[in-house]
Amino acid sequence: MCGIVGYIGDKQAYKIVIDGLKRLEYRGYDSSGIALFDSRLSVCKTKGKVEGLVNKAEKEISLDGNVGIGHTRWATHGEPNDVNAHPIISNNKSLVIVHNGIIENYATIKDELISKGYIFKSDTDTEVLVNLIEYVQLTEKVKLGKAVQLALTQVVGAYAIAVFDKKKPDEIVVARLGSPLAIGIGENEMFIGSDVTPFLNFTRKVIYLEEGQVGVLRNHKETKFYNVENDSIISPTIENLKLELSEIEKGGFDHFMLKEINEQPKAIIDTLRGRLKLNQGIIKLSGIDNNINAFTSANKITIIGCGTSWHAGLVGEYIFEHISRIPVEVEYASEFRYRNPIINQNDIVIAISQSGETADTLAAMKLAKERGAFVFGICNVVGSSITRLSHSGSYTHAGPEIGVASTKAFTTQITVLYLMALKIAKSKGVISKSVFNKYLGELNLIPKKIEIALNLNDKIEKIAEAIKDSKNCLYLGRGFNFPVALEGALKLKEISYIHAEGYPAAEMKHGPIALIDENMPTVVIATSKGHYEKVVSNIREIQSRKGKIIAIVTEGDKDVKEIADHYIEVPETIEPLTPLLTTIPLQLLSYHIAVKLGKNVDQPRNLAKSVTVE
Ligand code: M6R
Repeated sequence: MCGIVGYIGDKQAYKIVIDGLKRLEYRGYDSSGIALFDSRLSVCKTKGKVEGLVNKAEKEISLDGNVGIGHTRWATHGEPNDVNAHPIISNNKSLVIVHNGIIENYATIKDELISKGYIFKSDTDTEVLVNLIEYVQLTEKVKLGKAVQLALTQVVGAYAIAVFDKKKPDEIVVARLGSPLAIGIGENEMFIGSDVTPFLNFTRKVIYLEEGQVGVLRNHKETKFYNVENDSIISPTIENLKLELSEIEKGGFDHFMLKEINEQPKAIIDTLRGRLKLNQGIIKLSGIDNNINAFTSANKITIIGCGTSWHAGLVGEYIFEHISRIPVEVEYASEFRYRNPIINQNDIVIAISQSGETADTLAAMKLAKERGAFVFGICNVVGSSITRLSHSGSYTHAGPEIGVASTKAFTTQITVLYLMALKIAKSKGVISKSVFNKYLGELNLIPKKIEIALNLNDKIEKIAEAIKDSKNCLYLGRGFNFPVALEGALKLKEISYIHAEGYPAAEMKHGPIALIDENMPTVVIATSKGHYEKVVSNIREIQSRKGKIIAIVTEGDKDVKEIADHYIEVPETIEPLTPLLTTIPLQLLSYHIAVKLGKNVDQPRNLAKSVTVE
């Protein structure tokens, strides 16, 4: 996945594009680049982050011009270096392009273009695309917009592109299929972004380009949109943005990740707003209300997602089976899409995604729809591809999550799953009124309890100091907290690069126990509800092999506190809600370890915020 930015209007494009790229760096930061047009075309690109691009551009190119495109890259084809960085120029040096996605049939097209005399300097699929557009433009003698449309009919893969022609620099042509692209409409100016953040402080009017659409953007009113496949003119919907600039800034925290961890009480309150009606004893979730029969008659629910969203799905499995008594399977979207999944009538597929752009999840959803499933999306980003592809869904309302490590998305996803499970259980008549009301009441208390857990920050930072030099770490949990162990391990490995594994606590003796020695810390979730005695036995097994224990316990715990090397107490709640509390210290522990090790917490190496390629 990559980030693309563009501007055409009356202002200096350079600053708008650079500021936009900084906001999109979460999408990849292997290389960055910018192309500007004043009286001539200036292109500057470099391996590494936008900061490096600024240093280079300010020395090497003219920063003037009212047209510009920029790119921040997460490498797919070719190593991250200056040559493979975007923007990329066509053979006749007239067209310049930025691209997010993958052109799958690039090798075939490349061979054809080579046979026609084209020369390639980079290893990228993007260079193939820009030269294909050039070739079509020259051979068909058509304008750029038409050339892009015709070229894209030959392409297999995913793309969001912005391209302009230095011979006609009063327009930028954009197109998308599979990768997101938002267009901001200003007064006599147009903005382009992989999301809306590059133009949030200029305009509130946005068009989310739909799959298979091309737009010819001009700085006056002649902007046009049409379909790639049949060239028909379309009138896209202009939406009004509600997002505020302050929501995408660090707000006094050292890192986005820490800010986002601390935002969880508010994120959950926002997710519950208008849905949890405690006094009336009801839950309002329009995505479920409008399709309640599909859920009450469901024979099976399959939850799909990747990474942290998959972990939320695993918690969802426990929640649905416990509360709504519906069989649930949880699948990695990347596996589901290549299996031959059995989907029967009345089956429901729930797709979970923070970004709403994860390629594997999108592909799995498409397959589920083809097989006749009712597909429900749980998503954070409004208007994202997953929300558009779902039959119905519920937003998480966590607000923008910028840190690559997902935190508040996880807890709000669990919150939505819990609301769904309760609502369905009530409609199916499998939950008593008193239990329903109790479960609602406990959920209502969760934001306050998360605040209490967040106050343990200083203690957790000290524990981080004690274990930061470990090379490996084990995370154990049982029942509802087994997925939390997986999530804790993922958080640690992705931002600190310490090898970590999550296991169901009882599985330890089937293999991982061989790893235990005095250098191997084990983080154990040992809350009072949920097989407490059994977890205590697991802890003793580890200690008898000299393993160090960091235990997450319930306030008032006695036994584990006495035997653990370190303990962290979280407030008590009902068992299905414990993941919302036990996750908090694990997020903070990973954060502090990574900071102490001097790692880039918000932009860990080799990663990107959302993976829009396979
Ligand atoms: O945007 P999504 O929720 O679909 O993203 C899924 C994963 O890529 C994501 O959760 C990833 O695992 C995070 N970096 C984990 O912190």
